[in-house]
Amino acid sequence: MPVINRIAAFAEDMTAWRRHLHQHPELGQQCHETAAFVMDRLREFGVDEIHEGVAVSGVIAIINGQGDGPTIGLRADMDALPIRETTGADWASKNTGKMHACGHDGHTTMLLGAARYLAETRNFKGRVALIFQPAEEVGGGAELMVQEGVLDRFDIRALYALHSAPGTPLGQFYTTPGPLMAAVDTFHVDITGVGGHAAYPHETVDPIPAALSIAQAMATIVSRNHNPLDDLVVSVTMVHAGTADNVVPDTAYVGGTVRTYDKGVQAMVMRRMEEIVAGQAASFGVQGVLRYEVGYPPTINDPDATEFAVSVAREIAGDSGVDANATPEMGAEDFAFFQEKRPGAYLFVGNGDTAGLHQPDYDFDDNAAPYGASFFARVAERALPLNTQ
Ligand code: NI
Repeated sequence: MPVINRIAAFAEDMTAWRRHLHQHPELGQQCHETAAFVMDRLREFGVDEIHEGVAVSGVIAIINGQGDGPTIGLRADMDALPIRETTGADWASKNTGKMHACGHDGHTTMLLGAARYLAETRNFKGRVALIFQPAEEVGGGAELMVQEGVLDRFDIRALYALHSAPGTPLGQFYTTPGPLMAAVDTFHVDITGVGGHAAYPHETVDPIPAALSIAQAMATIVSRNHNPLDDLVVSVTMVHAGTADNVVPDTAYVGGTVRTYDKGVQAMVMRRMEEIVAGQAASFGVQGVLRYEVGYPPTINDPDATEFAVSVAREIAGDSGVDANATPEMGAEDFAFFQEKRPGAYLFVGNGDTAGLHQPDYDFDDNAAPYGASFFARVAERALPLNTQ
């Protein structure tokens, strides 16, 4: 079975929703207009419950199936990016400087499509929780939902989500069990010495040699402290110091990003950074202060949930249209916060040969929406089958 016929029949409606959302992008936790649009559609579909204001502007809707059973969660993100759009499309952003450059307009549309179908057909038992989440790009909307107790409040047993994938043929899927995307941390090192006249360096404590040493030593965490068979990125991306050719500055700054899949590796990096900053600072006689900010956790797909989701994707895309052992990526995704608490699977759905994510000329392909909506719908019907006790 490819796309569900009933969903294909209202594909034009999905295109209209998607283009409306694309014209009205909102950032971070402030997705109020998007949420209002989503709730208007959900009311039209006749879902059973709508809970608004979850994680500031998120929406959770419940559709009851036929008879008692567990609840599964289907999740879409709603927020856009602070990018000036260059697509020139008729439906381009009307909010200058904001743009749906990560396809979250498409994700929201695919989940709305599934909602319409599921509310109409109800070929499942138990409940489906439709999670429309703000603040995926920044602001940790999923973390906020977890903190607000959403998973317990709605008794959600497992969760599924999709992301648009430029470069993958339309309607094809890929994912992998286990680590799929990395944890993203940032680090900031503030170095304080004693500034002064550059002609009298002996009267200063120059922070620049310390900053350079710290930046170089950071690179050895990957090359010398780390098992080469595990995945790790440590990137120093900022070194700032000084304003004039004849002044020794009194401060310097080193910053960057760390990507990991494994908590043990992450802990090792944090420990080595503390040691490097303290040791290098002492050796140059400066003060060094490390701020290590733990960000989104790694996106770890539950093996059973992923096997199930892959079998659903194969129903839609065929065996050859699903890569079930894709290479993990060093990007990040806050769906990980849900997956820390419940089994979940995250998959990518092809967007065809388009510009990449977070690019000003990216656009979600409306022809992808029926595939994603069918995936979500079939996940619900097969995870919560009618014909069981
Ligand atoms: Ni995204």
